[in-house]
Amino acid sequence: MRTLSIEAKTSIGKSITLMGWIDIRRDHGKLIFLELRDAAGKIQLVVTPKNAELHKIAETLRPEWVVEITGEVAARPDAMKNPEHPTGEIELKVTDILVLNESLTPPLDISSGGLLIGEEVRMKYRYLDIRRPRLNKNLKNRFKALKFIRDFLSERGFTEVETPSLSKSTPEGARDYLVPSRIEPGKFYALPQSPQQYKQLLMVGGLEKYFQIARCFRDEDTRGDRQPEFTQLDLEMSFVQAEDVIKLNEELLINLIRANYPEKTVQEIPFPRVSYKEAMEKYGTDRPDLRKNKEDQNLLAFCWVVDFPFFEKTEEGGFTFTHNPFSAPKAEFMPDLMNKKNIGEILTTQYDVVLNGFEIGGGSIRNHKPDALKKVFEIMGFEEKKITENFGHMLEALSYGAPPHGGIAWGFDRLMMLLENEPNIREVIAFPKTGDARDLMMEAPSEVPKEQLKELRISVEKPREKIKNRPRLHRDGSN
Ligand code: AMO
Repeated sequence: MRTLSIEAKTSIGKSITLMGWIDIRRDHGKLIFLELRDAAGKIQLVVTPKNAELHKIAETLRPEWVVEITGEVAARPDAMKNPEHPTGEIELKVTDILVLNESLTPPLDISSGGLLIGEEVRMKYRYLDIRRPRLNKNLKNRFKALKFIRDFLSERGFTEVETPSLSKSTPEGARDYLVPSRIEPGKFYALPQSPQQYKQLLMVGGLEKYFQIARCFRDEDTRGDRQPEFTQLDLEMSFVQAEDVIKLNEELLINLIRANYPEKTVQEIPFPRVSYKEAMEKYGTDRPDLRKNKEDQNLLAFCWVVDFPFFEKTEEGGFTFTHNPFSAPKAEFMPDLMNKKNIGEILTTQYDVVLNGFEIGGGSIRNHKPDALKKVFEIMGFEEKKITENFGHMLEALSYGAPPHGGIAWGFDRLMMLLENEPNIREVIAFPKTGDARDLMMEAPSEVPKEQLKELRISVEKPREKIKNRPRLHRDGSN
């Protein structure tokens, strides 16, 4: 039976079998030291020249070979003990080596933290990059956080519901990713920028407390804290006010940190509230970094930013929403919305949660009455026809006794990046895209066979660069 490296500690004097990867091999003349890496960590192995055949096999081992190694667990001599390391007090005296698989020489160093290695090679060989203990840990801690969130919300009566990925283009501020329909050529699904409309429709459906670990797609420029596809903790509740949503989310964040990151301190509880106006005047940004000590990796300064303007002027002189067209204005501004008066002054119920200068979430109380929602679209200058075409289904749904409701979505990758002290969200995502939205490992996006395009009745214009770079044919046919 296989033993994990971390379990070896309890087996001093016994023979165990480990399985994993050769991390490092050090030849000290007669003694060969190996470090074996498995899901639980690393452990030191020693091969003595006593068994010549075994010694010969050990000499051939290379980093990243997969092995099954049997041996006797021994306490290290005192001078060799390393109390810093979880298995630093023991070593395995090898009695048998079975090579399960060899490995080519890896094109990147796996034993380091990896942050200094070029992204291109890390992304192309992401499966090797993930062997790095730091990334392995990030993915495991990401799962632990997800599990904590699921348990927390489930104990409070929330239901996790999956909403579609093949959906309709919605106006959430970014460009949509489109998926062509084969059955209706010329028509397209859009991948959701968020499950905003579906979660509201679930409230109309009487679900009352919904959440989802939701994948969202936005065709926008990638940055350190932005990916074309990313994960939200999305939630929505009926019969609530902003205070209820804020309180629940604050409690969830604090509990998650206390349980999974006890070394971290939350600077101020309850989280301070800052109005948009104050944030802009005092900090010059709507996501202020309120940390009192920016050197301390374990200090978490949350705040809520509230009282955002609902609308902002467009370049064309009209108005557009600042955050979410489905939000309700603050109650005192409802008459102005209904009368389409003082539009620039209307404040929305939007609340953003900011952590150490990053916007990690945002939400609002929604317009649950159809005429109020319709006013928003009218203020944005949408014609009746466009409103019906784009939002008819929402206006209709709200007409069938929609309860008052509101919610929020966290940028889960951003939160994990900050909790894991990582410099960007790619470090907490298993298979992220590069800055130019490519998956270098799968080589996506890629061209597809002509037949596939034909079936979809799609013809592709030659990309401009390709046309430009095409070798010029001279009259005589030479290049
Ligand atoms: P919003 O668009 O503010 O709200 O998104 C919520 C949170 O998601 C994170 N986020 C991103 N993370 C990584 N990559 C991206 N490209 C990206 N874009 C956004 C941010 C942000 O705060 N439906 C509403 C929520 C609601 O009102 O309930 C929404 O999606 O941390």
